[in-house]
Order: sequence, then structure tokens, then C-alpha cells
Amino acid sequence: MCGIVGYIGHRPAVPLLLEGLSCLEYRGYDSAGIAFVQANKIHTVKAAGKLANLEEKVATQHSFNAMYGIGHTRWATHGKPTEENAHPHADNAQTLTIVHNGIIENYEQLRDKLKSKGYFFLSETDTEVFSNLLSFHYSEKKDILTALQCTMQEVEGAYAVVIIHKDYPDQIFAVRKSSPLILGVGQGEYFLASDIPAFLPYTRSAVFLNDGEIAKLSSNSWEVLSSTDLKAITKEITTITWDLQAAQKSGYKHFMLKEIYEQPQVIHNCLAGRISKDMKVLLPELDSLDIPKQIRIVACGTSYHAGLWGMHLIEKLCKIPVQVEIASEFRYREPLLPEGTVVFALSQSGETADTLAGLRLAKENNLQTIGLCNVVGSTLSREADRIVYTQAGPEMSVASTKAMCSQLVVLFLFALYYGQRKNTLSAKEVSDYITDLENIAQTLEEALPKFHADAKHFAKKYAHAKSCFYLGRGLSFPLALEGALKLKEISYIHAEGYAAGEMKHGPIALIDKDFPTFAIATQDSLFAKTKSNILEVQARNGKILALVNDKNDIDTEDTWLIPKAKDALSSFYILPALQFFAYEVADSLGKDVDQPRNLAKSVTVE
Ligand code: F6R
Repeated sequence: MCGIVGYIGHRPAVPLLLEGLSCLEYRGYDSAGIAFVQANKIHTVKAAGKLANLEEKVATQHSFNAMYGIGHTRWATHGKPTEENAHPHADNAQTLTIVHNGIIENYEQLRDKLKSKGYFFLSETDTEVFSNLLSFHYSEKKDILTALQCTMQEVEGAYAVVIIHKDYPDQIFAVRKSSPLILGVGQGEYFLASDIPAFLPYTRSAVFLNDGEIAKLSSNSWEVLSSTDLKAITKEITTITWDLQAAQKSGYKHFMLKEIYEQPQVIHNCLAGRISKDMKVLLPELDSLDIPKQIRIVACGTSYHAGLWGMHLIEKLCKIPVQVEIASEFRYREPLLPEGTVVFALSQSGETADTLAGLRLAKENNLQTIGLCNVVGSTLSREADRIVYTQAGPEMSVASTKAMCSQLVVLFLFALYYGQRKNTLSAKEVSDYITDLENIAQTLEEALPKFHADAKHFAKKYAHAKSCFYLGRGLSFPLALEGALKLKEISYIHAEGYAAGEMKHGPIALIDKDFPTFAIATQDSLFAKTKSNILEVQARNGKILALVNDKNDIDTEDTWLIPKAKDALSSFYILPALQFFAYEVADSLGKDVDQPRNLAKSVTVE
């Protein structure tokens, strides 16, 4: 996964490319580069490290007036994050240069083949194989479109590639397979980007490229062709309705903090248009489908945790058996998928390679698929039989927060929707649950500043732990997993989420006075059981920070009081508390919260 951009139009391209890359830095930030054509020569500037290094280099070394160019911000897959491996990558003859997001799986065979023809390679990347293969076909076919067609027939894997070529002045070409690429259509200017914020200040008109399509841009025209026959394809222009402000920090220190605070609004937005006047759940996307006999939720990371949470509610409220699968395991384990199983692919980005592979596996088995996704126009949204958007707005922080909140709301709505259809819930029960969901948005809004202040207080005490546990039962178990994931990914403190009752089967051996436990001990039906597990930890001198509804509930080293809410609604308080805690620990340790090391936002590789 990486971020790529392209620009052609009436403005100087270099500042626009850098601006676009800054909006995509969440996708990768270990090196960056741009290429543009000036005085009939392709100029390339690259720098290892964050985009700021490239900006500095550009500012000190060059003055430009190029009106078109391409850019890249990298999350390393093939080769270390050095300047040599940074994109763009030219061919040996220096006639063309490309930026690439994705992985060319057969790059080793292709590299050997090219080497045998005399080609040499300056980097360790699979991308340089693409640029030289394209160059090779161009030298034979003498036409860039045919050369692209031949190249696409040979390369295997995922790619979004943007190309400039010396023989095609004032033009940009792009191809895509299984990696996102969107065309922004402006007035006398065109953009290519891995994600919409990169061009949103300049145009709201977007064209989502599909697999196997080639885009051809000049400063006054755009065209999309099929790579099969090179014939033009009619494409729909989508108007982007959300605001750029949604993709900016708006005065917050980090995107993550802003996005935690946005969660009450996210709950509103998720419910918007989905509740009828007579308090029923409306999911018209699903009305024409049969009720699933069973559900498989396939997801990764935070989305997987949301799926585990959803399993509890769906099984409880609408009595449909649910299994939740880590997508990277599901796709390779030849799962038995009985007829009538519906696969829910759950993904914020809609671009996660493993989740998409899980979806495709389900389709190969002739199962119905439903995508739950935040990003409009993503691959998941186009490949699933039905798509239900989570409507959280753009999530910029690498660590996912508000997207999970929106997934919980949508999964809750699924449970109520099928409960309505199966009559496992009365109209009154559905209406009460909806009212509770609507109310929680309001009460959460009021509660968040206090949660934040408490998180700051507790973070000071726990920020120097080397390792810790997160414990929860029932609906709080997936939240414990999520709390631990948030802490480790942004603060680099080792943290493990456990089902509280599972601790005694081994992990409790790790407990001593320096190994604290964050226990989710709110008043639910399993509270007494959780309390016993906490006592077991305390008996081994373990320090406990307990999230509780009443200070008298439990006697622990630290108690963090949060408001009581009915059943599953409590999760909408617990989740932001865990997120604030991880945020404050990481921030107090001076970590780069929005761009944690080794990570990137959407994982489009396996
Ligand atoms: C954690 C995080 C990741 C993602 C995972 C799946 O904060 O962001 O664990 O949840 O990579 O991503 P999506 O939901 O886009 O499929």
C-alpha cells in the first residue's frame, strides 16, 4: 500500500503533487518522490523518510513550471525504505517513469526474463520490473496503449500505476488492478489519486476506475479504455458530497483525537435515513435478499474486532448463527461454507487485500456477499453483491477509531433488521433499541471531554509499563482486543487482549506488580464473573485499572468511572475510553500518533 497521485492541467504541477501526497501520507510515509516533465526531460526528485524531506529537497534544489507530473508516498514492501527504492521508477532507457501502489507477485520471473534480454535494475522494487517490462513492450509495439495492454497481460498481482512517457508529451496514463485509483475531473485539469482527499480542494467530480481499465489524460481531455480491446468505456462521474474539512485536523493536535471526538456525530450519520417514522430499521439494500441461514463475517484488525462484537448481537437478537473469521486465515483454509451462508465482508477502506480475497472466495462458492464499508466507490463496494455504507466520513488517522464505532452501529442495525424480519424481536423491542441508540449519541457527546481528561490522568501513571493485559467478557472481550491493539500500534507498548475467563489458563503466569491489567468491568450480566477474574489477578500482585460504572463495584488500584448504559449500548462508552487512553499514552511518550512506525492505513497487500 502506498499513495499515488498524478496531475495534468493549467497549474504548476509540483505544488499540487506535493499537496496531494500530503493528503495520502496516511497510506505510507517511509519515502516519497515526484516526477514531471520540463523542457522535454523527465525530472525525478526522491527522498527517504517522510514527505517533509521531499518537500525540503524540492524547495532547495529546483524551480519548476511543469504542468503535469506524478508522485508517490511509499510503504515499503519490496526493498528497504531508501532513496533508491523510492518511486518514481524509470525504465533503463529513461523514456518513461511510473509510480505504483500494490505488489507485482511474479516480479522475480519477470525480472529474470528482462535480465536475460539485457535489462538491469537499480532498485530492489517490483515496480522497476513493471517500468522496464512496459518499456520492453513499447520498444516492440511502438504504441503506449498496446504496450500497456501487453504488460497487463503479463504482470500478476495488484497494481495501480501512473505513467509519464517522453514520447507522449502532455499526457498521463494510468492502469489499475486490485489497488484503488480514482480520476478527479476538474475544469481543464485532471487528477489521479489513490484516495479522494488528494484532489478534493480542486474538484468534487470523481471517476472510479475498475480493474483492467486504462485512463488516458491530457490537459483538455480524459478517456477510459478497456485493456482487453483498447475500446473507450463510458464512465459515470460521481459527485463527492463530503467536505474537505472532514479530511483535515480542524485544530485538533492529531487526526486520531479529532476522529475519537467525532463518534457521536458518526452514530447520528449511521442512523440517518435508516430509521422509519414508525421506528423500524430500514436497510433497503438487503430487502430483496433471503434471510441468511448463517453468517460469516470476514475482516482484519479493528474491523475483525467489530465483527466479533457484532456476532454477539446478531446471535442474540435475531438468532442467526454467526462465525467471525480473520480474513487472511479464511482465504487459505478451504472453509466449509454451507448453502444459505451469507458472507459479510467488513472493512473501513474496502481495499484490504485479505478481506477482498475472502469476499472473492465466497463468490466462487456461489454465496451471497454483503460488504460493510466506509469508503464510497472502494473495491469492496463494487465487488460485493450488496453494499451497506457505514457513513463515518473519511478516517485519516492510521489507527482506526470512528470507523469501528460506525461498524458497531451498522452491525447493531443488522441485528435489529433481521430481528424484525424473523420476528425474534417485537416492534416495541426494536423501537426501544433504536431510541437507545439515538440517545447514546447525545449522552456520549456530553461524556467525551470527561473521558479525555480521565484518560490523560491514567495515561501518566501507566505510560511507562512495558507490557499490559486488557480483559473483558462477552461484548467487552472484542473491546479488550481493540484496546490492546490501539495501545500497541500507536505507543509500541506490548499489550494483549484476553477473554477475562481465559487468563487463568496460562497468561496469568505473566502477572506481577510491573505487569498492569486494564479491566473492562462495567455492570453487565457477566460482571460477577469478570470481578472474580480481576480478583485472581490481584491475588498475584497485579495492578488493575478498572473501567466501572460504580466506584463501589470493585476495589482496585485505579477505577475509571464511566456512565452506565443498557446492554450493548455500554460499548459506545467503553470504546472511546480505550481509544483516548491509548492516544494519551502514545502522545505522552512523544510518539507520532497519526503515523505510527511500520504501519499504513489500508493494507492492499497480503
Ligand atoms: C487498526 C487498524 C487496522 C485495520 C485493518 C483493516 O487501527 O486500522 O487493524 O482495521 O487493517 O482495515 P479495513 O477495515 O480498512 O479493512
